[in-house]
Amino acid sequence: MELLFYSLAGLIVIVVIAVSRKSIVAGMEARSDINRENKPGDTEEGIEDITKENIEKTNEQVKIINQIDDLILIVDKFKNIKFFNNSAKKKFGENNLNKHVATLLRVPDLLQNIDLVLLKKETITMDLELSSPLFQFFKVHLFSGPTSFVDDPDSVILFLKDLTDIIKAQRFKSDFVANVSHELKTPLVSIKGFLETISGHAKDDLEAQKKFIPIMLEQADRMESLIKDLLSLSRIELQEHLQPQDKVNLKEILSNVEDIHQKNLKSFEFKNNIKDDFFIKGDYEKLIEVFSNIIDNSIKYSEKNKKIEINCGQGNGKVIGDSYIVSIKDNGIGIPTEQLPRITERFFRVDAAKSKKVGGTGLGMAIVKHIVNQHRGELEIKSEPQNGTEIKVHFSKF
Ligand SMILES: Nc1ncnc2c1ncn2[C@@H]1O[C@H](COP(=O)(O)OP(=O)(O)OP(=O)(O)O)[C@@H](O)[C@H]1O
Ligand SMILES: [Mg+2]
Repeated sequence: MELLFYSLAGLIVIVVIAVSRKSIVAGMEARSDINRENKPGDTEEGIEDITKENIEKTNEQVKIINQIDDLILIVDKFKNIKFFNNSAKKKFGENNLNKHVATLLRVPDLLQNIDLVLLKKETITMDLELSSPLFQFFKVHLFSGPTSFVDDPDSVILFLKDLTDIIKAQRFKSDFVANVSHELKTPLVSIKGFLETISGHAKDDLEAQKKFIPIMLEQADRMESLIKDLLSLSRIELQEHLQPQDKVNLKEILSNVEDIHQKNLKSFEFKNNIKDDFFIKGDYEKLIEVFSNIIDNSIKYSEKNKKIEINCGQGNGKVIGDSYIVSIKDNGIGIPTEQLPRITERFFRVDAAKSKKVGGTGLGMAIVKHIVNQHRGELEIKSEPQNGTEIKVHFSKF
């Protein structure tokens, strides 16, 4: 649906350019009519008037073309850039006039299509995907000149509609479904396998049943917690635009989180240094979920007896107005720097095998990010492999 909308919007702009192309062709034809029908003196005046009118029209059209978000480039028969609008300038830089189009878009299919348009004067539409330095996706319409911008019939207009965000969202959706299915399928297949065994050849084997039933329970727990996390994520996403308004105390929340994880925290050198009250606008239960997930990670990704520390203090302007920062710092295995930006992606795990062993599905930090966003807070993650991780969460004061 969105793609259809953008394609239509693209076509409208193409029509604008095509009309201006028609008007220049008409202008050129009109000029030759004047030459034929008028006396020489009238003809010069006529040409002057039409040229002036055309220049004004072209200036107007350039103004419009510079307002639109889509990228417009016009190349000559040598594929050198003769015109580009403001959006194209923003994307590719200011100084590209007269450069070969391949210096900006080195895509063989695109170059081949420019040749085809020059040869056959037909309109071609193609998809253009760039993967480096970043993923970008454009729907490109190529059609032949002349236009009022480049008065040369041997020119090609490249109209690039940037669909990167839409395509990314579509791919994200299908990746997400594939990930969920995979995560649910794995424990389900194992439960089914054990059930077949204990209802089949191991029907009377008590020893086998004693061994398999706890594993099945563990797998069922895994499925349950995955579904719980997914539901929690979708609920939070639905409410992300509604900032919670209750007055909550960070000291109370973190002490509650400490109680929840008390059993596991006993094996660590744990310190909760929050002695004062810190009031913020928030949702008590959701903030418990945030800090529970962060502490759970410190526990899962640190060796026993390592330090885990909680602190709270005045903020430093990362969020609007006066603020507080909660910091949870561990001395665990840490996260490689290049993986840091991906930590809050759904299902992302640095070491999937290790995470799975400790019961991780890679949804915890995605939940944290969404809840913090809902609170209009800010998440800051610092980590050094082998040295540990510090997660800071910034909140505006109540
Ligand atoms: N404190 C930490 N120390 C080291 N690695 C961490 C830490 N926190 C997160 N990570 C890494 O980030 C990944 C994503 O974390 P996240 O909490 O989203 O998922 P998870 O812990 O694997 O599973 P879940 O939280 O859903 O049970 C983890 O798999 C781990 O590789
Ligand atoms: Mg986690």
